[in-house]
Amino acid sequence: MTTSLPPSPRSRFPGANLLELVRDSVSFYRRMGRECGDIGVLSIGSRRVYLVTKAEYVQEVLATQSRKFVKSSAYRVLEPVMGLGLITSNGPLHLRQRRLCQPAFHRRRMEQYAEVVLRCAANLDRERRSGETIDPYAEMCQLTLRIVGGTLFGSDLEREADEALHAADEFFEQCGMNRMRLTAVLSKFGVRYSGGRKMRDARRRLDATIYRMIDRRRSQPEGNDLLSLLVHAIDEDGDGGGMSDQQLRDEVITFLLAGYETTASIVTFAWAALAQHPVLQQKLHRELDDVLGGRAPTLDDLPRLELTRRIFQEAMRLYPPAWIFGRMATEPVQIGPYVLPAGSRALASPYVTHRREDYFPQPDAFDPDRWLPERQAHLPEFAYFPFGGGVRRCIGEPLAMVEGPLILATLGQRWRMEFASPPPRETTKTLFLRPDPSLRMRLFSRTPASFDSTGSQRNELKCVLLP
Ligand code: HEM
Repeated sequence: MTTSLPPSPRSRFPGANLLELVRDSVSFYRRMGRECGDIGVLSIGSRRVYLVTKAEYVQEVLATQSRKFVKSSAYRVLEPVMGLGLITSNGPLHLRQRRLCQPAFHRRRMEQYAEVVLRCAANLDRERRSGETIDPYAEMCQLTLRIVGGTLFGSDLEREADEALHAADEFFEQCGMNRMRLTAVLSKFGVRYSGGRKMRDARRRLDATIYRMIDRRRSQPEGNDLLSLLVHAIDEDGDGGGMSDQQLRDEVITFLLAGYETTASIVTFAWAALAQHPVLQQKLHRELDDVLGGRAPTLDDLPRLELTRRIFQEAMRLYPPAWIFGRMATEPVQIGPYVLPAGSRALASPYVTHRREDYFPQPDAFDPDRWLPERQAHLPEFAYFPFGGGVRRCIGEPLAMVEGPLILATLGQRWRMEFASPPPRETTKTLFLRPDPSLRMRLFSRTPASFDSTGSQRNELKCVLLP
């Protein structure tokens, strides 16, 4: 056992690293990963921040020794928005909430959720015209917000769900990262700042609609939508109780926020990669035509849409929306040859680890073939962790792994994508890594106009690849 420090990133002058960190944290941590290797340390004032990039160490932090860590204080910026939902809670409250929510994400629920995904994607598909220029990220956000709304609230609450989504849209728009930070800093000094007037109004509307929907679901027998499952969930292995309205509200906002931007961003990056690699796009079209023969995809098609899935997986490797997450050690923790003292921070970054050359040769290349079974067989566990790991692993993963490939299949079947702006750069202006908002793409229809708008059948399979 040793307590000496791991390497630190080079600094051109005192404070240079901090400046770079504030200006462009993604590039900074990538450089730190390159310079420091498996584990590095950055001193910020009296605080030590360790970046672990080796798969084995990531596993120690997120899974094997996770009991010695809690989520770092950075998550507190989310509390004014999410309250104490699954993402922001710790300890016994988190474990109880996880037990209560888990059944709603069981694989057997995916069939109903897949129907929502397909309905929403087909609706969007119908609204587009060939040659149209779109803002793909905005479109994908609208789509995934509708999907998460549909899975959460069910179809009989469509009017209320629409109101909630509208309010959520406004609310999330107001919740930029800086505003959330400001709210969190002020609350440390006992100042209750709930954002500007617009943010407060949007939040009031959102809360009121959510509470109305909770009331409705409480007065009905258990149904299939997520909210109904959560309202009726009983902690059978714990205190035998259910969730209060406040707790339900916090979880609903958490699911709305965690569940839409993440998937939207990966699908957009996947479209961008396909526009950049026309041959790959053609291969995708061929797979969709071969497997689906012109009919709409279903959940059962997913195992055979294996290139579609690999494209989604590869987009998540290069552009993991939750690109870094932090933990605070509550006691000394041994990671490899180093001891992280109590109170220090450990960061695990899918973005940095996913771009390590020893795990992913030519790491910056978009290559879905890396996910062929024979090529990924030797990958260590936790070399790829877009959904995190251990007890805090993303609860929405089964939904995301259905949703992403089904969106790619539904829209890819009908459209060919081209850039109408330069290829995107990633940005982290909000909570997640996402494409630069200047990205625009042009859609070209690749199916006959006679495509059945319900997406159910098509007589003739003739792909019209426009120039
Ligand atoms: C491709 C899409 C998604 C990605 C890449 C993703 C990624 C992640 C990651 C990395 C974490 C762990 C963060 C940490 O350990 O600090 C997480 C947690 C979580 N995610 Fe996702 N997520 C996705 C989609 C979803 C969806 C669709 C939902 C819900 C509808 C969701 C709900 C959650 C929740 C509630 C947590 C907290 C879990 C806990 O701490 O117990 N996510 N997600």
